[in-house]
Amino acid sequence: MAVDYNPLLPEHRRDPYPFYRALRAEDPVHFHELLQGWILTRHADVTAVLRDPRFSSDRSKIRIEALRLPPVRQELREIASAFERTMLFADPPEHTRLRNLVSKAFTPRVIEEYRGRIAEIVDEILERAESARRLDVIRDLAYPLPVTVIAEILGVPSEDREAFKRWSDDLAVLLDPFVSASVFERAQESALEMHRYLRAVFAERRRRPQRDLISRLVLAEEHGDLLSESELFAVCALVLGGGHETTTNLIGNGVLALLRHPEQRRRLRDDAALMETAVDEFLRYESPVQFTGRTATADCEIGGKRIAEGDFVVLGLGAANRDPVEFPDPERLDVGRRENRHLAFGAGTHACLGGRLARLEAGIAIATLLQRFPDLRPELDEPQWYPAIVSRGLTTLPVCF
Ligand code: HEM
Repeated sequence: MAVDYNPLLPEHRRDPYPFYRALRAEDPVHFHELLQGWILTRHADVTAVLRDPRFSSDRSKIRIEALRLPPVRQELREIASAFERTMLFADPPEHTRLRNLVSKAFTPRVIEEYRGRIAEIVDEILERAESARRLDVIRDLAYPLPVTVIAEILGVPSEDREAFKRWSDDLAVLLDPFVSASVFERAQESALEMHRYLRAVFAERRRRPQRDLISRLVLAEEHGDLLSESELFAVCALVLGGGHETTTNLIGNGVLALLRHPEQRRRLRDDAALMETAVDEFLRYESPVQFTGRTATADCEIGGKRIAEGDFVVLGLGAANRDPVEFPDPERLDVGRRENRHLAFGAGTHACLGGRLARLEAGIAIATLLQRFPDLRPELDEPQWYPAIVSRGLTTLPVCF
């Protein structure tokens, strides 16, 4: 069937959901000519692939030109190759080894210990905004909160967050298809700077270990068989990058959804206990990660289409999260939605490691914002979306009160 799907259109950035709806209705397992890969938009199909060990996360298996990056500079070869083999892009048993090294830092008990610290950071931020009578939800709250928390978990100074942001922004676009030469060059510069920075932190922690995640990982690196120096860098870069931009977008997208749905905002204000289901609804309704991908390692069939070994499959997480077969009235924001089996954190072996932390931060940030400034109003008519396909988030969200 000839569905003309183009995620690069500005209309798609503004509102991708009509495009997803059309794909899901007309061709839910769609072969995209330009990508030379399949795009899946049904909840059941996306879930099945995420849970199917025949679909690999290993990016070296990808044969698609649009997704292949140019060769990296000599000095980056080793870290680029470690990054390509980081847990996000590894299959078991490699994946299990890498994930086990960091998963202890993200257990429910450990994350719960951050509740007080998160509330403290949010209060400090909103205190400062109070006298100004306005704030940019992204710049002043949604960005500094997660970056400060993840920096503290890792054990890097959160004062360096401007640099973390630049590096993570530059590297995150490498997940998009069709990366231009200048974007690629910038990403390489950022990777080099980040490498230099983190290596200095590793050296310091080797001399004086602390109670943070980097110290623990450095110890694992010293037992050379557990983690090499470049793997150490790759895992820290993944946690640092993965741990903040996505959460920034969850907070920003959640606040925007409430500004656009005053009746849902009133519901939340009148019943604060709804915040838990509300955060999952923000994740479903405006998912910070819209797509992920897998490569088939065996011939198989999805929705009547034959997927061949080596084919690339693009999983529409944002599309699956609006599938009417799974979610009654999916285009409606419902902060009290029950049975919300959204895929915003993926599913299966690679299900997000930081989901609990992201939920906790977003819940506290949004609840406190609504309590302190009940008459919050947007200052812009049109939301300013970040120019990316995989990530969905705002560049700015100025509000006054
Ligand atoms: C709203 C916030 C977040 C969203 C929407 C999100 C989304 C995702 C998704 C969709 C995946 C799975 C990718 C795949 O299967 O291909 C994933 C994996 C991952 N996430 Fe998150 N994430 C968020 C926050 C975090 C935080 C706070 C951290 C770290 C502290 C984190 C660390 C990771 C890691 C390490 C993985 C790789 C897990 C693996 O491969 O086993 N994420 N995330």
